[in-house]
Parts: sequence; structure tokens; C-alpha cells
Amino acid sequence: MIFGRIKPLDAILATAEKKSLHRSLGAFQLTMLGVGAVIGTGIFVLTAEAAQKAGPGMMISFVIAGFVCAVAALCYAEMASMVPVSGSAYTYSYAVMGELIAWMVGWALILEYAVAAGAVSVGWSGYVVGLIEHALGIDIPNSLVRGPFDGGLVNLPAMAIALLVTWLLVIGTRESAFVNAILVVVKVAALTLFIVLAVPVIQMDQFTPFAPLGFGGIGAAAASIFFAYVGFDAVSTAAEETKDPQRNMPIGLIGSLAICTVFYLLVAAGVIGTVGANPLLDANGAGLAPGSKELADACATISDQAVVCSKEALAWTMREIGWPQIGNLIGLAAGLALPSVILMMMFGQTRIFFVMSRDGLLPAAFSRIHPKFKTPHVITILTGVFVALFAAFFPVGILADISNSGTLFAFAAVSIAVMVLRKTDPDRKRPFRTPAITITAPVAILGCLYLFYKLGIETKLMFVGWAIVGLIVYYAYSRSRSHVGRGIVDVPEEDADVPPMPVAPMPGAPAPGEHE
Ligand code: ALA
Repeated sequence: MIFGRIKPLDAILATAEKKSLHRSLGAFQLTMLGVGAVIGTGIFVLTAEAAQKAGPGMMISFVIAGFVCAVAALCYAEMASMVPVSGSAYTYSYAVMGELIAWMVGWALILEYAVAAGAVSVGWSGYVVGLIEHALGIDIPNSLVRGPFDGGLVNLPAMAIALLVTWLLVIGTRESAFVNAILVVVKVAALTLFIVLAVPVIQMDQFTPFAPLGFGGIGAAAASIFFAYVGFDAVSTAAEETKDPQRNMPIGLIGSLAICTVFYLLVAAGVIGTVGANPLLDANGAGLAPGSKELADACATISDQAVVCSKEALAWTMREIGWPQIGNLIGLAAGLALPSVILMMMFGQTRIFFVMSRDGLLPAAFSRIHPKFKTPHVITILTGVFVALFAAFFPVGILADISNSGTLFAFAAVSIAVMVLRKTDPDRKRPFRTPAITITAPVAILGCLYLFYKLGIETKLMFVGWAIVGLIVYYAYSRSRSHVGRGIVDVPEEDADVPPMPVAPMPGAPAPGEHE
């Protein structure tokens, strides 16, 4: 009974109708929303990781990852516009493929959101530590700012930022439209400054050999750098608030992904062409794995004097090419802007847990609301503690790869769900239809599978282990308590609005969850 226990779409939509949002977002706002949600640790930090895996060929990796995201995003958007309710991929799967698949997708989304929040916390730590060391001249021992796989003991700053964001979420902090707009400008300005200073001094000979580790390395880098694009689902989930979604949704999705891809390619070219992007190899000529003790040791022997060793690749590059103050400024920009990415990720996580708990699949205590702050504090604190632990002990690349495995699984599931629903429920109203779905959806599924396959073996094993734990929890706990399983499908309206949408409101748009 893999596909049993389907949650009726009409029951889900009844909730959505009660809380339908004002359609106010246009193509420009959607595009900015996407750019704001997407730019983060991926480009600021994982560029070094991609260089270690692919060398200059990482430019192709950025294109491959961006393309897979674009086709997956188009599928996601059809679902999001049809089923505009909390829970994203989890809810869509519940309506189409039943409870077990939905549970597995929700379980995978924990990787997407919570582990990603950990990754971004570690990325933030790298930049802030670099800034303190270079701008203030204070040398902080590696043992306190790097995890055990990375030549240290515990990453205290990463842990601290995760706990700080948890506290902000518990007291009900939401990013205001104004703060969001400022942070988008800060991130884009930092990348632009980097490009303007680095690209003119590119030396073409740095681009050869272009693919020192072959196409395998380029694919592996694409699987990791996929993280740099995660977050675009914020655009898909804003479908309900979009004017003329059939026109504006693809513009917003493809537009924001295209803008990010162009920025990423220029930044990558700037890094490769100035400081070089040669991977560090072992005695047999194979690339050392990012996040491994071997790479940390190899970096220690050259005093971290290679971009692939840097925890703050863009700031490091600026300092290397004679712009130390600009390097510090980029560090400052990352230090200011990355916490908002952590906030969005952790917010997304609490929202998924909240919906799963409301469906009876997780303990009801998870959806308990704080009497004063009106936030789901229990689940927020639980999430925050785990995020802080991930951030304290694991390197950014490993966390990003694990997060990618969950995201790729969820996106593949949504792409399948879209195709299934076109067959099983062809007449249902679709405010946005995926263009050329017979090509787009299969390409999205194959693209997700390819990137998943190119993740490291440890990551894949971790994913499988996580899935097995998920199945055990489902059969031991959730299955017998499921509301759908027990015949309860009605969702109380007041619960449906808490917590509100994680999408940061744009100027002029109603606040998320706000009724018109
Ligand atoms: N795309 C987001 C980042 O790179 C998750 O930080």
C-alpha cells in the first residue's frame, strides 16, 4: 500500500481558500524575491569547494545546477499555484502519492531546511572569523572556529549564530520587507564589487587545464553547487500572491535563476582567472575530498594559501589581488546578509514540522504555540538545537551536500506529482501550467537523479540511513496516529495560518499570512 492514504486535494484546498492571499506580486517583485532567497553561502563559500572538485570547469557546474533548478522550478510552480498551502512538497505529495511518500518527502525536507541552515551558519562563521582576523588583527585559534573534520574542535561562531536566529524566531521576528530589500542590495552590491575588481584582471592561462578532474569532477561540483540555487522555491510558493501567475511565475523563476547564474559565472570567472582554481590532489592524482581531514592537512602544509582552502573564498581572493579592505567589506556584507538565509531556512523547517504535526504524523506538542509570542516555540527550539549542533561539528560542504540530497529527492517527487496529477485530475484549475510538461518534468526528474548520483558516497549513504530512520519512525509512531488514517481530514482554520508563510514580503505586498 505504498500509494495509500491520499489526503483529498479538496480538503487541502478548503484550507487554502479560507486563507487566500491578495494577488499583488508582479514579475519584478518575484524576481527580486528569488534573488534574495537564493544568494548565500553557495556563492560566497562553496565556490572554493566547487573549485576543489572541478577546477576551472566549475563554470560548467554552475550552468548544469542552474538548469536543473530551472526545470524543477517550473514543475514546482504548477503545484504551488494549484495547492497553495503550507508544507510545500510534503503537502503536494500527500495529495497525489499518499501518506508514505509524503512522509518520506517531509522527512527529506528536514535535510533540505535544517541541515541547510547549519551549512549557512558555518559559511557565516568563515566570513565573520576572517573579518575579525583581518580587520581587527585578532587571531582566533582554529580549534574554536572549525569543526573536527576541518582541522578544529568546535565551530563556536556557527553555533552561536544558529542559536541567535532560533531565539529571534521564538520571539516572533519576521524579516520585514524593508530589511529584505536592503539585504538583497547588500548581497548584490558585494558580488558586483567583486566582479568589477576581479574580472578586468583575469588571466586566461588560469583557465587551463579547464577540467583537471574530468567531466566527473564537473558533475560532482554541480551536485554540490546546486546548494547555491536552493531557495528559489520561495518564488514558487508565492504563486498564490502573484498577479497573472501564468505570465509572471515563469518570468520570476527563470528570471531570478538567470540573474543568479550570470552573477555566479562572473564571480567564478573572477576567482579562477585571478587566483587560479587548481584542486589539491593526493599522491595518485585524485582530488582530495572537500571537508575531509586529508584536505585540511594538505591545506595546513601550504598555510591555507589556495582558494580551495579558504573558508571565505571571495574575501580571500580580494585580499590576494591587492584589495584587502574590499575583502573585509565583502566579509561584512556576508556577515550581515547570511543570517537572513538561516532565518528563512529555519522558518521553513518549523513550518514543515508544524504541518506534519498538524496532520498527526509528529507529536502534537510540536505545533504548540507560545502564549505570549504566538510562535511554534517547541519545534523552533528543537530545530535550533539540532541546527546548532550540525553547525558546531560539521564542515559547510558536507552539510550542503546532505541538504542537497534531501532537496533533490523532494524536487523529483514534486516533478512526478505534477505529471501524475495532469493524468488523474486533468480538469482541476491550474493558475500556472508547467510549459511543455512532457519534456520539462522528465528532464527535471532525470536532472535531480543525475545530481543525486554525483553526490559523494558518504552523502548518499547518509541519505539512505536517514530514510531508513524515517521509515522506522513512520511505522513505529506516525502511521497509527495519522489523522488521514483515522479519518480526520478537516483542518481547523485557526491552525492553518500558524506559522505564516516563510516568504519574505515584498514592498507593497501584504504581509505573509495576512488576510485581505
Ligand atoms: N542558496 C542558498 C545559499 O547559497 C541556500 O546559501
